[in-house]
Amino acid sequence: MNAIEIIEKKRDGGTLTDSEIDHFVSGYVADEIPDYQAAAWLMAVYIQGMAPEETLALTLAMARSGGTVDLGTELTVDKHSSGGVGDKTTLVVLPLVAACGVPVAKMSGRGLSTFGGTIDKLESIRGFRIDLSGDEFRAQLREYGIVLSGQSADLAPADGRFYALRDVTGTVPSKPLIASSIMSKKIAAGARGIVLDVKYGLGAFMPTIDEARELAEIMAAIGRGAGRRVTALLSDTNQPLGRAVGNALEVREAIATLRGEGPRDLTEHCLAVAGHMLRLAGYSERDDLVDARETLEARLADGSALGVLRKLVSLQGGDVSQVDRPETLPQAAVVREIPAPGDGHVARIDALTVGRACLELGAGRLRKSEPIDHSVGVVFACQVGDRVVRDQPIFEIHAREASAAEAAGEQISAAFEWSDAAAAPPPPEVILG
Ligand code: URA
Repeated sequence: MNAIEIIEKKRDGGTLTDSEIDHFVSGYVADEIPDYQAAAWLMAVYIQGMAPEETLALTLAMARSGGTVDLGTELTVDKHSSGGVGDKTTLVVLPLVAACGVPVAKMSGRGLSTFGGTIDKLESIRGFRIDLSGDEFRAQLREYGIVLSGQSADLAPADGRFYALRDVTGTVPSKPLIASSIMSKKIAAGARGIVLDVKYGLGAFMPTIDEARELAEIMAAIGRGAGRRVTALLSDTNQPLGRAVGNALEVREAIATLRGEGPRDLTEHCLAVAGHMLRLAGYSERDDLVDARETLEARLADGSALGVLRKLVSLQGGDVSQVDRPETLPQAAVVREIPAPGDGHVARIDALTVGRACLELGAGRLRKSEPIDHSVGVVFACQVGDRVVRDQPIFEIHAREASAAEAAGEQISAAFEWSDAAAAPPPPEVILG
C-alpha cells in the first residue's frame, strides 16, 4: 500500500480500511508522507466524505499518534463546545464539576475568525500557562483533579498537523474531519465521559440545528465506538451566550457566574452541561439530573467552584489576585455606552454581526498566529425578549480608540432587531443520548 493508492481510492469514493488510514496518518506524522499528498487526501475526504467506520479509524489513528492520558478511573469527564459567540462555558463548567470531586481534563484551542477560544480567554489572566507538557498535564490531573491547557505537543499530534493543513487548503468544514479532529483530542486526553455541547445558529460553527445534530451524531458515534460515554446537547447561539463578548470581558463574566452573579442564560447553560458531566461520571446515585443540579447549585453558592478556579489559576502560574479582583484584568482605553434608538422589545441580536464587530475591535484573529487584544469587546445590557426605553444603554463597547468604538457601535446597533411585542426567548437545549 502506498500514499498515492490511498489518495486515489478516496478520490474515487472508496471506503478506506483501518490499516490504510493508519498507514496514512502514521506516515504523515513521521514525515514519510509530504504535505502535498496529505493535502490531496484531505480534499478527497472533503469531497467524498467518510463512512462511520472510516471516521472512527481516523480518530483512533490520530489519538494514537502521540501519548495518551489514562487515570485508570471511570470518573474523568470532559466537554466540548463547538464554538459560539460569547461562549465561555468551559471557564465556568470545569471548576464547577471539579468542585464536585469529579476529575476534569481539557485541552482547548485558540479562537479563529468570529469564534473565541478558551486559551485566548485564559491568557487574559497574567502569567496563566497554557503550554503544559503531556507529563505536566497528567501530573496536575492526577494530583488536583483539574487541568485546562492548550493542545499539548505530545497528545494527538496528528490532529495539530492535519488541522494546520486543513486551515490553508479549504478543507476545514468537513464533518468527518471536524469530528475526528475534536474527538481524537478527547480520546487522547483520557476522558471516559464526554459531553458534546454543539451550538447552532448565526453565532455558531454549525448554522442550523440539523447540521449541529449531524455533527453531534458523528462525534457521539466515534465516542461510543471508542468505548466512551457520550451525551450531546444542541443549543441555540443566534444571540451571544451571556452578556460579554471579548476575552477579558468573558473571563470577568465567568468569574461573576462562579460567584452566582452571572447572566441567567449562561448560568442555566453551564448547569445543564455540568449536570450531564456529573451524570456521565456516575456521580449521582440516582443517575438523575435533578440531583446533579442541586449539588452544582450548592457548589456555586458555597464558593467552592470559584475556589477551584483560583486553584487552577495558581497551579498554572496565573495571578490569582485577578480572579479576586477582576477589574484588574486588561481594561480597554475607551468604554462607550450605546443607547436604545427607541422604545421596544429586543427581537434579535445577530451573534455573527457581533462576532465580526469584536473581531474588528481586535478581540479575534483572521490568521492563527496573529496577536489579539484581550481588553476589547462588548457587554450587552439587554437580551432577546427584554423591553427597553429610548436612550436606555443597551450595550457597552470596549475599544482601543474612539474611532474603533464608533465603528463597532454602528455595527452592533445594526445587529439588533426590534418588535412591539415580547419575542420568544431562544429554544431550550435538545439532548441526544
Ligand atoms: N475544533 C477542532 O478541534 N477541530 C476542528 O476541525 C474544528 C473545531
